[in-house]
Amino acid sequence: MEGLGARVVVAACDVADREALAGLLREVPDGAPLSGVVHTAGVLDDGVIASLTPQRLAAVLRPKVDAVLALHEATRDLDLDTFVMYSSASGVLGGPGQGNYSAANAFLDAFAQWRRSQGLPAVSLAWGLWGDTGGMAGALDRTDQARMRRSGIRPLSVEEGMALFDTGLTTGEPALVPVKFDLAALAAQAGADQLPSMLQGLVRRPRRAAAAGGPVPVVSLSDRLAGLPEEEQTEMLLDLVREEVAVVLGHTDAENIVPGQAFSEMGFDSLTAVELRNRLMRAADIALPATLIFDYPSPVAITEHLRAELIPDVASGTMELADVDEAGLRKALASVPLERLQELGVLQQLLRLTAAASSSAVPGATTPVASETQQSAAHLIADMDVADLIERAMGNTTN
Ligand SMILES: NC(=O)c1ccc[n+]([C@@H]2O[C@H](COP(=O)([O-])OP(=O)(O)OC[C@H]3O[C@@H](n4cnc5c(N)ncnc54)[C@H](OP(=O)(O)O)[C@@H]3O)[C@@H](O)[C@H]2O)c1
Repeated sequence: MEGLGARVVVAACDVADREALAGLLREVPDGAPLSGVVHTAGVLDDGVIASLTPQRLAAVLRPKVDAVLALHEATRDLDLDTFVMYSSASGVLGGPGQGNYSAANAFLDAFAQWRRSQGLPAVSLAWGLWGDTGGMAGALDRTDQARMRRSGIRPLSVEEGMALFDTGLTTGEPALVPVKFDLAALAAQAGADQLPSMLQGLVRRPRRAAAAGGPVPVVSLSDRLAGLPEEEQTEMLLDLVREEVAVVLGHTDAENIVPGQAFSEMGFDSLTAVELRNRLMRAADIALPATLIFDYPSPVAITEHLRAELIPDVASGTMELADVDEAGLRKALASVPLERLQELGVLQQLLRLTAAASSSAVPGATTPVASETQQSAAHLIADMDVADLIERAMGNTTN
């Protein structure tokens, strides 16, 4: 820039700090008054919704919301030509694990429109992904990159980004979404009925081949399973689970997913855990808990759970209660190791039951130590939010 004749001053300032900002603006020389603002400050602190505390929300809102309000107030009476805000497409389209960041950026897009309505210059550029710049995109790991690719967003080169910046200043629109979309990936999402509604207009929805002129009936997973021998049902569901695990972890081949391997050893984090659960919910068209991979810690365990959910006979059996050997069953249950109960996803319910039973029992009627242990275990689990549970299942906590 100096080669082109400009004089450049780099000054550090916390833009959300009104006093510091006012001090900085006082240093702008009278002979070269401020004519434009380009606001690019931002921080990330991603996490599933249940893990977002007020502090984590405030820290991410601060460099966007507080800083832009401070800039707006400090420059409101100046004769600016431009007021550019760097926003993110996550405010428009949403982003897994980015509830706080999406909110911060959605504010910028709305604020640009409001400033325009006040007769002040403003444009909010809700960027997709920039490549080769380090920055926030540089912090993405392999799984994050695979997720971005699946979402149909490709990285912009610096040249593309700067050209879009120039265009953004001239369109007259207060809020724009400069994103490089992979239309083939979006078309694939549309084909699988998974294209976000915001993007519906960008690709043509593939027409389903109509049989004999009529609509093709959609065959649900449970319909496809019904009538198959048990072994084939298990095989079909295990294939589905391994395929979805491979997609979520960014593997090209589901063959690499070992059916009995624990998810905690495969590189899952809380975001990928929730994404796997969402994908399986869509594929199976049933409700699944956010703690799915905690409750069912391997592909085999999830497969069994899906089979029980999708084929009611597996869960309920066809047996009459009167035919049950109650004493034998109770004896067998007492010998089941706790780990196995956890694998089967029933440990939490049992802990709740034991806690309820011991709290309603006459004081002193239960063994105090056993009762206390059960209760504190039950309370510990009940007090944990989803993120805690997943972290614990992943072995990320030390206690
Ligand atoms: N990179 C992408 O693919 C992408 C995509 C969409 C949107 N964006 C947006 O583009 C902007 C730049 O992104 P980037 O990738 O260059 O991020 P980056 O490398 O993390 O840079 C963000 C900068 O903001 C500064 N900052 C944070 N809080 C501040 C505050 N209170 N006052 C002053 N400066 C503050 C940081 O300074 P310190 O390091 O000194 O704290 C850092 O230099 C961000 O607003 C981001 O949301 C980026």
